[in-house]
Amino acid sequence: MQKLIIDTDPGQDDAVAILLALASQEFDILGITTVAGNVPLDLTTINARKICDLAGRRDCRVFAGQDKPLARPLVTAEHVHGSTGLDGTDMPPPQTPVQDMPAVTFLIESIREHPVDAVTIATLGPLTNLGLALQQAPDIAARIGQVVIMGGGFFEGGNITVAAEFNIFVDPEAADITFRSGIPIVMMPLDVTHKVLTHQRRIERFACLGNETGRQVANMLSFSERFDEEKYGTDGGPLHDPCTIAWLLAPDLFSGRHCNVVIETTSELTLGMTVIDWWQVSDRLPNAHVMRDVDDEGFFALLTSRLGTLP
Ligand code: BDR
Ligand code: CA
Repeated sequence: MQKLIIDTDPGQDDAVAILLALASQEFDILGITTVAGNVPLDLTTINARKICDLAGRRDCRVFAGQDKPLARPLVTAEHVHGSTGLDGTDMPPPQTPVQDMPAVTFLIESIREHPVDAVTIATLGPLTNLGLALQQAPDIAARIGQVVIMGGGFFEGGNITVAAEFNIFVDPEAADITFRSGIPIVMMPLDVTHKVLTHQRRIERFACLGNETGRQVANMLSFSERFDEEKYGTDGGPLHDPCTIAWLLAPDLFSGRHCNVVIETTSELTLGMTVIDWWQVSDRLPNAHVMRDVDDEGFFALLTSRLGTLP
């Protein structure tokens, strides 16, 4: 079993990613760490706990993380996710407890206590928790097996500014620390996540699973896709965050290149841009495996069948 920490700011697409992981026997989920992003930290932590409840996994450990980016005021995305971050759902208040330990302490300790390369981290939100952990304990960089990051965009441009994707834009300094860390990185930018669309027929399949998880997922995605449908003129919105977990389960669904990625941290115009050297025109060395294509039908087949195993 792959030892996994999920760092997240739920968010409907985060919720689906967490559910996919909780439904998959391939993972030993060491913990879920929350961060401020789509909505403030108190809400992302409540939402992560609700998702554990929904999956029947109150044993899953949830650690509350940083409530603001390393060096900037928090930017949130209620315009996409609603005021709760999980609008569209009607889940009861959560019962899964929050652990006493702060998320950054948990990250550092669990990486130190496991063998080198044993722990994978999937980041689904701003990289604040990991960035701070790397600042406080630089030794962990050489111990982390890999980080699978939903963030960035290049050919597709940005989704929160012209140049920047939301997760990187919210905490570019933390992203910069992560991309310079030497940790093996797999990156899921908008270039690939924009190919994973919640078409109506796909949402209907979730609704028809016959379980509570399928009903909640159909409802939450029906809410969150409305903003993107209007913005992009597509049938459905991109299902960003589950791409990270799907890659860990079935990497052959995705294809990409080993590239150099640098985070813009100073320019007012392009703050948070992920400058991806796709054509290898610089002499900078590759530091990330950057995905660009996906078998979207295969992705939804995997996701739907796994969600069908949950309560
Ligand atoms: C990312 O931003 C958030 O709104 C989503 O949850 C996803 O992690 C997409 O840009
Ligand atoms: Ca997210």
